[in-house]
Amino acid sequence: ANSLKLGVAGLGTVGTGLLDLLAKHGALVARRAGRPVEITAVSARDKAKNRGHDLSKLAWFDDPVALAKSDKIDVFVELMGGDGDPAKAAVTAALQAGKPVVTANKALLAHHGAGLAKLADDKGIALNFEASVAGGIPIVKTMREALAGNQTAKVFGILNGTCNYILTKMAQEGRSFADVLKEAQELGYAEADPTFDIGGFDTAHKLAILTSLAFGTEVNVAAIDIEGIEAVTLADIRNAGEMGFKIKLLGVAVASGEGIEQRVHPTLVPKGSPVADTDGVFNAVVVHNDFAGDLMLEGRGAGAHPTASAVLGDIVDIARGNLRPAFGVPAKELRKYKAAPKRAH
Ligand code: NAP
Ligand code: HSE
Repeated sequence: ANSLKLGVAGLGTVGTGLLDLLAKHGALVARRAGRPVEITAVSARDKAKNRGHDLSKLAWFDDPVALAKSDKIDVFVELMGGDGDPAKAAVTAALQAGKPVVTANKALLAHHGAGLAKLADDKGIALNFEASVAGGIPIVKTMREALAGNQTAKVFGILNGTCNYILTKMAQEGRSFADVLKEAQELGYAEADPTFDIGGFDTAHKLAILTSLAFGTEVNVAAIDIEGIEAVTLADIRNAGEMGFKIKLLGVAVASGEGIEQRVHPTLVPKGSPVADTDGVFNAVVVHNDFAGDLMLEGRGAGAHPTASAVLGDIVDIARGNLRPAFGVPAKELRKYKAAPKRAH
């Protein structure tokens, strides 16, 4: 069978994770995809940087937008990050050229998801983003596909591996915030600008995507009340622990007849509960459904290989011809977002 040719823009933590995965599991992936899957073209900023793989036989593009619409590729894989250009221009160019897109970029989706999904629908092609929320946890497919028969009332969880790693190591090892953040950056967990992690913005981006999937509304990150973990001290964590709690950064979205409430903030979670027991780089997503009941998915929320696993699953869907609306319903049927009245504090 003809191979599925991937153009990958971004060869950092996630991009090299994808190179690792295809190098190790090429034959397995080909069986599952029904055809060989190969990276034929790549783009990054620094052509000279050692990526740990031989890229000499791949076409190199300095411009990711040119890669996105190149006839050397069948699918465009966006792993650069950022809600502006070149990610936005490249994903738009790929969709306009009729090339399915796989992306791990929650910032892009949180700000432009509804418009990009409409473009994908108009072209009848996939816009897949499993890796954008909670790393290796298959929460997007679970909500979009497996839970399609449910009315969801609430979705919440630990959605940022960097913050959970910091809070966990501060609690378990008494280390300073700055020291653990540095380690999380070295491990490839943090965003290029870690303010997005510790300020709660990355959690908000992911929550906005989950909210759209849960309630069938247009993505609305601007509606989220956001508080990060920068002000959490070792003393706060110790005091919470003495009272039987852990501090976790949660993203929470709840729907009621009045509208939707979305918020991100550090939260006291009772020790021994499944969310409190989710430590380190692990994320946990809890979904309250009317037919399936409550469920929680836990797994590695960041890192090269868990994230590459999610990217690859999306690619196999495309190879198999599985096409589902990005946010569960056609983009033109997504409802306008209605915010619930603010609660008094
Ligand atoms: P990263 O390590 O910073 O890698 C970014 C890559 O994009 C680099 O290879 C960089 O090139 C390339 N790039 C940046 N700007 C570019 C431009 N203007 N033109 C061409 N290439 C450009 O980031 P990452 O951690 O892999 O994250 C990538 C995406 O995945 C982001 O959207 C992130 O939010 C998302 N994500 C990350 C994780 C994780 O655990 N890291 C998990 C889930 C989702 P150079 O290498 O040459 O500088
Ligand atoms: N910086 C993100 C995190 C990467 O720490 O969760 C995964 O989306």
